[in-house]
Amino acid sequence: MDDLKAKWLEAIGAAADESALETLRVQAVGKKGEISLKMRELGRMTAEERQVAGPALNALKDEINSALSARKAALGDAALEARLRAEWLDVTLPGRPGRQGSVHPVSQVWEECTAIFADMGFAVAEGPQIETDWYNFDALNIPGHHPARAEMDTFYMHRAEGDDRPPHVLRTHTSPVQIRSMLDQGAPIRIIAPGRVYRADYDQTHTPMFHQIEGLAIDRDLSMANLKWVLEEFFSAFFGTKVKTRFRASHFPFTEPSAEVDIQCSFEGGMVKVGQGDDWLEVLGSGMVHPKVLKAGGIDPDEYQGFAFGMGIDRIAMLKYGIPDLRAFFDSDLRWLRHYGFSALQVPTIRGGV
Ligand code: DAH
Repeated sequence: MDDLKAKWLEAIGAAADESALETLRVQAVGKKGEISLKMRELGRMTAEERQVAGPALNALKDEINSALSARKAALGDAALEARLRAEWLDVTLPGRPGRQGSVHPVSQVWEECTAIFADMGFAVAEGPQIETDWYNFDALNIPGHHPARAEMDTFYMHRAEGDDRPPHVLRTHTSPVQIRSMLDQGAPIRIIAPGRVYRADYDQTHTPMFHQIEGLAIDRDLSMANLKWVLEEFFSAFFGTKVKTRFRASHFPFTEPSAEVDIQCSFEGGMVKVGQGDDWLEVLGSGMVHPKVLKAGGIDPDEYQGFAFGMGIDRIAMLKYGIPDLRAFFDSDLRWLRHYGFSALQVPTIRGGV
């Protein structure tokens, strides 16, 4: 009996899977299994023999049955364990996000400029990128012989054969929006006009399409002092540090007097730092709006006067964010965009406003 018990319990304990276990069950306690056959022999025993062998066989059968179910449960657990291990999933791992786009430095700086000027009470005005030459040149007192009007510098959109009207131009600056604003709303005016402009130029600091921001303020008693204050306030907010400006006498057909404006900076090891040092960097053109321009815009120059300015958005973006080559702005190279782009549009505010 002990040998029988040892043999079956060991076999059951070693069964590798459920089907091996089932085979063992049939061989041991199935109808023709070894234990069942032994029980059938009880009938041929004497009463005394049966009294000893009967309970022992029954106990053995019970023991084998419970060993079978224990082994079955253990095999089931092990199978589940194995499956869990194979299909293991670490739910605590951070997700793998899809590639996100980024805000282009031009969009970011465009937004910074409009936010800062908005705080000073300037509204945003717009004009078309395909202009008539009257808005782009004549109304701004740019004479027919001016070099800016040459075919070499400006993109013209030629008219159909036989149509003698002057060609349309891709606007060469945002200044035509000055005229459109004057004609649209009359004085007083306080606007900025950010937008795309076009010139036939291509090198490290020039691209055929680029961005400018125009400013125009018209009222009864504005002076260059107001212009200087607005620009210093703007640059200080934009660069996040007090920035001094220097006005140099200049000439633009649409302003009188005209000034080119430089901002205070230092050049250290090829790096430009704005708002410190005693070097100067030219950043924009400006002046008091020429009486002829006011007239073209339907405003009486004896009653109103004002200032205007125009600067390159891309240029001040390069300065603020240390971007070396303008052409890269428009190459759509994703590596560049990831490097210089912003994860979200940041909107600055000027302290206090006006
Ligand atoms: N329109 C000029 C340009 O593109 C920039 C400019 C100069 C704009 C003087 C102005 C200004 O409004 O007053 O070079």
